[in-house]
Amino acid sequence: MAGRIYSWLDSRLRLKPIEKTLLDEPIPGGASWNYVFGSATLFLFVLQAITGMFLAVYYVPSPDHAYDTVQFIQQEVLFGWFVRGLHHWGASAIMLAIGLHMLQVFFDGAYKPPRELMWMVGVVLFLIMMAFGFTGYLLPWDQNAYWATQVGINMAGTVPIIGDFIVHVLRGGEMLGALTLSRFFAIHVLILPSIIIFGIMLHLFILRRVGPAGPWDEARAKQGSETFYPRQVYMDAVVMLGIFIVVGVLAATIEFPLADKADPTDNSFMPVPEWYFLFYFQLLKYFHGPFAPLATWILPSIFFIGLFLLPFFDRHPERRISRRPVTLGAGMAFLTGMFVLLGISLNDLYAVPKTDPSVIRGQELVEKHSCKTCHRIHGEGGAIAPDLSFVADRRPDREWHLKHFLDPPSMSPGSFMPKFPLTEKERNDLTSYMLTLKSGA
Ligand code: HEC
Repeated sequence: MAGRIYSWLDSRLRLKPIEKTLLDEPIPGGASWNYVFGSATLFLFVLQAITGMFLAVYYVPSPDHAYDTVQFIQQEVLFGWFVRGLHHWGASAIMLAIGLHMLQVFFDGAYKPPRELMWMVGVVLFLIMMAFGFTGYLLPWDQNAYWATQVGINMAGTVPIIGDFIVHVLRGGEMLGALTLSRFFAIHVLILPSIIIFGIMLHLFILRRVGPAGPWDEARAKQGSETFYPRQVYMDAVVMLGIFIVVGVLAATIEFPLADKADPTDNSFMPVPEWYFLFYFQLLKYFHGPFAPLATWILPSIFFIGLFLLPFFDRHPERRISRRPVTLGAGMAFLTGMFVLLGISLNDLYAVPKTDPSVIRGQELVEKHSCKTCHRIHGEGGAIAPDLSFVADRRPDREWHLKHFLDPPSMSPGSFMPKFPLTEKERNDLTSYMLTLKSGA
């Protein structure tokens, strides 16, 4: 049946030659697991496009609605939390896949002639991917989104001459606000996708013109060339399935909570960027005052221009990494620096909120007694009772809470908050937690 449909279509559309071009591309030295990262990236891109389209069905890019619509997707829409999780973890995975893809090409010397153009287009694709990450981060319009974007835009402002212009274009107005959000949304869902699809096509077109690099080892390269189908297709498919399972499990198990809704007046908030920007975030901390531009734009520009023009700096035809000490050294130095910075940054992040065990127990009691059926805490929970996100601002007094938990109406006449059967220790733990709920904490 399928065969008959195919031959019917083939007789009209002449599919055979296309099938040949797509599947019979020879791979020098044969198929390899080393070559799966490009397809893995492409697969993740398609996943982002599909999940993104579903998110766009509910999402509204305005400061009044963005946060609520994301919350609605997370809590009300059927499988909305899962689609959002896939999009979130997919974004992380795509950065990882591109990173591995670039490392493979870098250490394998696959950017050398005649593949310079493919590498250069690849570097541009990588930059576009980062722009996707940056613009997408603002869309949920929570505190993290707002203040991280503020930091990013301010960094753009440090570039001489064109800095102010870039800031104006990105921000839309004097303040990060409604105009910024709709701009970022348009960039994220319309402008970048159309550019990147063209870029991906160009990348693949060049690949088909110049062919895959294959192994540096002449003997192995000569040994055999193998068509893309079936073994490489099979390897790529296995990796894609593996990625889908991993991203799916992450999306299903690790929640990605929203912070509080963006509050433009609260400039004490310390945003944390995505993990793939963390090492850079750490680097920024070492450059102050007159040295700040070094980290905000000078080093990144040198890095990307160097990366873009790499095939012209490294002109030696030798591809074997053990014979390319300068490239090897530069690559390893970069990776080491990145991991050290990432390590320091993670250490700092997780060292600070080593919270008092009493507070953690109190937090668990809030879950256990379902306080959030009535109260909302940082955007989560019901709205029957007062929002507790910043309750310590109103009620900083420990005694008040202890008495209130013992017997709510004694402190708030007429209160319908239940008298929970709590031990003294539990009342104490709950109170410790309540007292951490203050703005600027
Ligand atoms: C059935 C709904 C309900 C549940 C469940 C509930 N509360 Fe309340 N809570 C209220 C109401 C109504 C008030 C406002 C009247 C008052 O102060 O007692 C309130 C007030 C409070 C206040 C004082 C807030 C303020 O701004 O003055 C705190 C603190 C508090 N609740 C904590 C808790 C904790 C912790 C739990 C879970 C152990 C919990 N509540 C469970 C209904 C509830």
